[in-house]
Amino acid sequence: MKNPIVVSVTGAAGQIGYSLLPRIASGEIFGRDQPVSLRLIEIEPGMKALAGVVMELNDCAFPLLESIEATSDLDHGFDGANWALLVGSVPRKAGMERKDLLGINGKIFVGQGQAIERSAAEDIRVLVVGNPCNTNCLIAMNNARGIPSERWHAMTRLDENRAKSALAEKAGCHNRDVTRMAIWGNHSSTLYPDFENALINGEPVEKSIPDRAWLEGDFIKNVQQRGAAIIAARGLSSAASAAHAALETVMSLRKTTPSDDWHSVAVASDGSYGVEKGLICSFPIRSNGTTSEIVQGVELSEFGKAKFQQSVNELLEEKAMVSDLLPK
Ligand code: NAD
Ligand code: LMR
Repeated sequence: MKNPIVVSVTGAAGQIGYSLLPRIASGEIFGRDQPVSLRLIEIEPGMKALAGVVMELNDCAFPLLESIEATSDLDHGFDGANWALLVGSVPRKAGMERKDLLGINGKIFVGQGQAIERSAAEDIRVLVVGNPCNTNCLIAMNNARGIPSERWHAMTRLDENRAKSALAEKAGCHNRDVTRMAIWGNHSSTLYPDFENALINGEPVEKSIPDRAWLEGDFIKNVQQRGAAIIAARGLSSAASAAHAALETVMSLRKTTPSDDWHSVAVASDGSYGVEKGLICSFPIRSNGTTSEIVQGVELSEFGKAKFQQSVNELLEEKAMVSDLLPK
């Protein structure tokens, strides 16, 4: 048996946690031969519900689930963590933008960043899901400067999946036929789903969908607003699809990306595409299984550049809003 991988999950008693944890414990994310030790983190009011989640995980008798720790103590929760999935935070309600959550959620990521730096394993990698995830990730990363910036990620895979599904439906093909679907910018209503560089069955999207007005209009708008549409329909924000996207993000970062494809992840900019260094921005990403890099040389049209810039501008605004949470 391999040594267990230690996975910390915040907000473990929440909706996303409920979908995500059994999939981690079953071996779906880290491998069918990889034991997992779970460290589940909640705030005090969530501890009772978390106790029920732990009971259910135990009742699954997962062969690969080595141990479970449930705690509201951050240092205990991140102790020895190889992966930290930062889900815990308040979701938005109908009528709100995700950045309206910064005032309430931003400060959570100060203490979590600091505790990760103090307590996690040397090879820690972090995925932030809690919204607004790009800027929350920026806050955590800046409060843990001893951890290399390439270990920090925020989730835009759900937007990638939504964009793929929308293109496949319009083209009358399968989701799996859509590749190179890049999300540029923020996980917000300014995100840019790049239909100009995506492919359907290896060919430009416009060959299957010769409807530029739809691509520039409803397609982009619907992907940008999909989270809000789910809140309007369910009365709660996306959870199963969010958990699935988190799972896919981690899996993609842990394996080599096929050379003819990429995935969308928000990472610390290295200055690529003119984005301010250190801003947590979504780009097309390729991984070699251990490290990942921003795909270089993707051509953006004037239309694409303007959309991307709008989203980057929003990230800069969000950064300014949380300047008091970013150590100088
Ligand atoms: P939820 O309200 O069901 O669960 C959140 C859990 O986090 C609760 O159990 C709460 O007690 C806990 N929590 C709150 N503050 C905490 C803290 N400081 N430390 C630890 N736990 C804390 O919400 P959810 O539906 O699971 O969503 C969680 C977050 O994920 C929200 O911010 C939501 O907007 C976001 N989200 C992001 C994406 C994405 O694509 N990036 C997709 C869906 C949801
Ligand atoms: C989503 O995209 O579904 C999540 O970010 C939740 C939300 O607030 O829209």
